[in-house]
Amino acid sequence: MIVTIIGTGYVGLVTGACLASKGHTVRSVDVSEERVNLIRAGQTPFYEPGLEELLRDGLTSGRLSVTTNLASAIQDSELSLIAVGTPAKGEDPDLSYLETAAAQIGEQLRTLGRYHVVAVKSTVMPGTTRGIVQATLEITSGLLLGEFGLCMNPEFLREGSAVEDFRVPDRIVIGQADARSGDVLDRLYSPYACDKLRLSLEEAELTKYASNSLLSVLISFGNELAGLCEATPGADLETVMEALCLDRRLSPTGPAGRVRPEILSYLRAGIGFGGSCLPKDVNALRVYGKRSSVATPLLDAVIATNTNRPAQVVSLVEAALGDLAGKTIALLGLAFKNGTDDLRSSPALAILDALEDGGARVQSYDPFVSAEAAARAGLQAPCGASLEAALHNADAAVITTADPSYRTADWARLTAGMRTPILIDGRNILRGVPLPAAVRYYPIGVGRQRIQPGGEIRTLPAIAAVH
Ligand code: NAD
Ligand code: UGA
Repeated sequence: MIVTIIGTGYVGLVTGACLASKGHTVRSVDVSEERVNLIRAGQTPFYEPGLEELLRDGLTSGRLSVTTNLASAIQDSELSLIAVGTPAKGEDPDLSYLETAAAQIGEQLRTLGRYHVVAVKSTVMPGTTRGIVQATLEITSGLLLGEFGLCMNPEFLREGSAVEDFRVPDRIVIGQADARSGDVLDRLYSPYACDKLRLSLEEAELTKYASNSLLSVLISFGNELAGLCEATPGADLETVMEALCLDRRLSPTGPAGRVRPEILSYLRAGIGFGGSCLPKDVNALRVYGKRSSVATPLLDAVIATNTNRPAQVVSLVEAALGDLAGKTIALLGLAFKNGTDDLRSSPALAILDALEDGGARVQSYDPFVSAEAAARAGLQAPCGASLEAALHNADAAVITTADPSYRTADWARLTAGMRTPILIDGRNILRGVPLPAAVRYYPIGVGRQRIQPGGEIRTLPAIAAVH
């Protein structure tokens, strides 16, 4: 099938490269000439494992092309997938990119002279596809729905494992205005052997928000429990969670023993959720509820817990270190999670701001974020090229991304370069890792205690003051 994809961000580019690898002919379009040139040269505008190889394969085989010219890209295609950003703008998602893209497609449909399906892949509030998108397409094309097709096809990939998530989807959700439109998407995804659900447009839109909101609920529940454990002498969240998850309704026993559903990993406490989607999507669902006169106290609380989380982590730093003024803190992790260079709504940046507000000087390091990228994102704090540089002369370090390499780092050497070897582990990534005896190690979710090198737990009164 020949398919046009509007937008070459995380969703658009991954979708294009993966569909091309399945034999489709993909014409990708982006308004950014710089981005188009970069992609044409076989480079990805962001870090995503496996994407560059797939992209180059697609370009070499000719099954994937990239252009700024929508008119040429749509001429011989049967389907357009819209994958432009829908960032938060005040309370609502900013639909201006989506509206522009729909108008540009509509103008092409006016003279195309044959049936074409438009599918929204961007995450949008319920009613958006049948509302703004359909209306824009009808006005700009002069056609009526039915003369063109309309679908809503949400994407569930995660940054850092986007290619793998797309390659092996759990399910494909096809929201359809009518069966003829849905049939075209069904054909597009015929190489993928997973459940394909045919839903209404609104059900598809809601499924996407529901999915991200469920993850957020689990994360905030884990983080709230972390706070409760920290206030409870003798309690360790990891032990409590293990006991909780052994409930057979959460981890049923299969032929090979207990099955631990992957989603339970979202109960792990951390520094709060971030990124370009979870925060904006939970908020959008909450706002949608408000507009529809449906109360969403659970989602309100999820957001409140998450908003407070970076400050709680900073309280742990203060409890361990005392007044922040004049102190140097190493911040290990800038992106919103490990395995990506995406800084959008990163809780690590909220921690950075709070540390600086308290008068500390922050030296940062992130294995996926270069100093240039950090500077481009407007970061004032120095971003070093190594763990060693960030930790040099630091009074304490805060770990904010769970990079597995931290587990095998030489902490004896690294902490020797610190002024005081205090490690606050916002991701519990160093739990169980032998650390030098001099290191004061503070995991999260452990009640008023300090974990000694080798895993022995000892009460630490300083933490008691935190909560
Ligand atoms: P992004 O910001 O990384 O990329 C969007 C791209 O669209 C940009 O390159 C931009 O230049 C381009 N664009 C904007 N208007 C255009 C137009 N009129 N014509 C052509 N190109 C245009 O966005 P993203 O992270 O890929 O997210 C896209 C959508 O998918 C959002 O709604 C998001 O919520 C959703 N989503 C994102 C992820 C993710 O992991 N990032 C996962 C699932 C769903
Ligand atoms: C998330 C969803 O997992 C995807 O299914 C969805 O498609 C995507 O949002 C989207 O709509 O954009 P992503 O944001 O890439 O994907 O990352 P996740 O791995 O889900 O993590 C989200 C946030 O939760 C991160 O800040 C992460 O650090 C945090 N998190 C995750 C925790 O704090 N604790 C956990 O146990 C797991």
